[in-house]
Amino acid sequence: MEFKHKSVLLEETTKYLNIRPDGIYVDGTLGGGGHAYEVCRRLSGDGKFIGIDQDGDAVGAAAKKLSEFEGRVRIARSNYCQMRQVLEGYGISQVDGIVLDLGVSSYQLDDPKRGFTYRDGDAPLDMRMDDRQEFTAKDLVNTYSEMELYRVIRDYGEDKFAKNIAKHIVAARKQKEIGTAGELTELIKAAIPAKVRMNGGHPAKRTFQAIRIELNGELDVLQGSLKDMIGMLKPEGRICVITFHSLEDRIVKNIFRDCENPCTCPKDFPVCICGKTSLGKAVTRKPVLPSEEEMEENPRAKSAKLRVFERGKSSG
Ligand SMILES: C[S@@+](CC[C@H](N)C(=O)[O-])C[C@H]1O[C@@H](n2cnc3c(N)ncnc32)[C@H](O)[C@@H]1O
Ligand SMILES: [Zn+2]
Repeated sequence: MEFKHKSVLLEETTKYLNIRPDGIYVDGTLGGGGHAYEVCRRLSGDGKFIGIDQDGDAVGAAAKKLSEFEGRVRIARSNYCQMRQVLEGYGISQVDGIVLDLGVSSYQLDDPKRGFTYRDGDAPLDMRMDDRQEFTAKDLVNTYSEMELYRVIRDYGEDKFAKNIAKHIVAARKQKEIGTAGELTELIKAAIPAKVRMNGGHPAKRTFQAIRIELNGELDVLQGSLKDMIGMLKPEGRICVITFHSLEDRIVKNIFRDCENPCTCPKDFPVCICGKTSLGKAVTRKPVLPSEEEMEENPRAKSAKLRVFERGKSSG
């Protein structure tokens, strides 16, 4: 299957990275290498690029796409939460820029074998970005308690009918294990009032997104590693993060704010005594959004937000 994926906020991300031709750049969510290609073609001299993705197919596709830059490119199949170890493996401790373009690629969504899509009824319920992990969406749907399913569908899918969907899932699996995307989709449809089903988007979209986020630990990984990535930037180095979900964007916004102003002293203290120093500043006060044109051309871009942080000249 051909790796088809339209990169989101491509021009904006490339611009905000402030690429230095002889710098070192990392993409922690390499995908098909769309953003990576734009970075690599701006490098020369000692310029280096390291691409990381936990998906074996993405790593293969990106290696092909970036083959013309062979000498300066390294690609690792890993989770971006392991970025420090990956870089150390290449003898690198600090970098000039990092890109994260979160979530799944269109390639992953469109391949029925991967089980991310509700569009192919017979597709197995899989949804693992990294197939070295054993626990699949099928395991999640058949083992999580009703309360846990409710929480996941409510928080990560923001679905008004989360409670009822969780109830239907648990009732159905008492009769028979839920095995395919089609079976799950039918259950979701049955849990949503007919009037809403007719008017909204696809009724299964939100639940599938929620299960994917939970299964791949997407928010925990981001929350647990973003500050550390800022710590890997050289002075004036930048990190660009593209999110697709309000909870993801909130994590990025809050971590950027805390890294800019980490002082925990009471407001009325005349001087700081906590000793926590700023790591730099958020370059974008408000997130950068795709243009109307991009949103029209690429429906995936509609929920995208880019935030950028710059490491201070002499910070921490
Ligand atoms: C939206 S796509 C990236 C597309 C890429 N920027 C491009 O323009 O072609 C997201 C990619 O990140 C990968 N990914 C998501 N979370 C990851 C993580 N925690 N560690 C490594 N890769 C991750 C997915 O496997 C997917 O290939
Ligand atoms: Zn303080």
